[in-house]
Amino acid sequence: MRPLIIAANWKMHTTPADAGDLARTIAARTREPSVVRVICPPYVSLAAVRDAVVGEGVEVGAQNVHHERVGAYTGEVSAPMLVGLATWVIVGHSERRRDAGETDELIGRKLGRALEAGLRPILCVGEQLAEREAGRASEVGARQLEGALAGHDPQVLAEGGLVVAYEPVWAIGTGRNARGVDAAEMAEAIRAVLTGLGWPAETAATLPILYGGSVTSANIAEFLAEPSIDGALVGGASLKPDEMAGIVGRAAVTARARLEVAR
Ligand code: PGA
Repeated sequence: MRPLIIAANWKMHTTPADAGDLARTIAARTREPSVVRVICPPYVSLAAVRDAVVGEGVEVGAQNVHHERVGAYTGEVSAPMLVGLATWVIVGHSERRRDAGETDELIGRKLGRALEAGLRPILCVGEQLAEREAGRASEVGARQLEGALAGHDPQVLAEGGLVVAYEPVWAIGTGRNARGVDAAEMAEAIRAVLTGLGWPAETAATLPILYGGSVTSANIAEFLAEPSIDGALVGGASLKPDEMAGIVGRAAVTARARLEVAR
């Protein structure tokens, strides 16, 4: 059975002075052992969040990583630097594709650096509104996935704990979430791409797939009702302890229900 994962992407919010308190509050309000909880604060707050959640079972992730291990890259942060601060890393977020011009090829290299350093990657894919309206959502997701995963050994990706987040760009930060059925359809397409890339079906079946894009405590149930969706990557709502309590609480209910079905 795949784990239920709720990952908080704090984006460019919080400071080192307040991130620890927020993380501690969220950790205390989301104590559900059946749910994998990950908080991804800005780089400068990684240490504060790591220290704040010691003993809470909450894992810490970075929001990005450089595609080289070391070098003359002013202002950048490499995967080896994150070791000890984080155990997860988001790669290919649409805001970085948009603002930093990240390509699938570059994202694939980031993926490699993350895996080498033992960081568990959350690879984001998702279409623009015009692409969805043109009926090209699955095709775009497939192209992004194929581009990023090209040259990576499926076994290494699976053993490194790869997670894919389907995040339609038009749903991010807009308050306009996708429908559960659309997310489920994309999850199926993602698994089909993996088998097309030579992943054994049983390996593809172990890959967790998250939905992201305006997830709240009010709409999380719609996504978790889809057996192919294993959790969420939460942006805006992840800064609100009440919202996180509701989202993780719902994921725990889902985890219990799935366990029953599996028995
Ligand atoms: P949102 O962001 O929940 O604020 O839409 C999700 C994300 O960008 O990961």
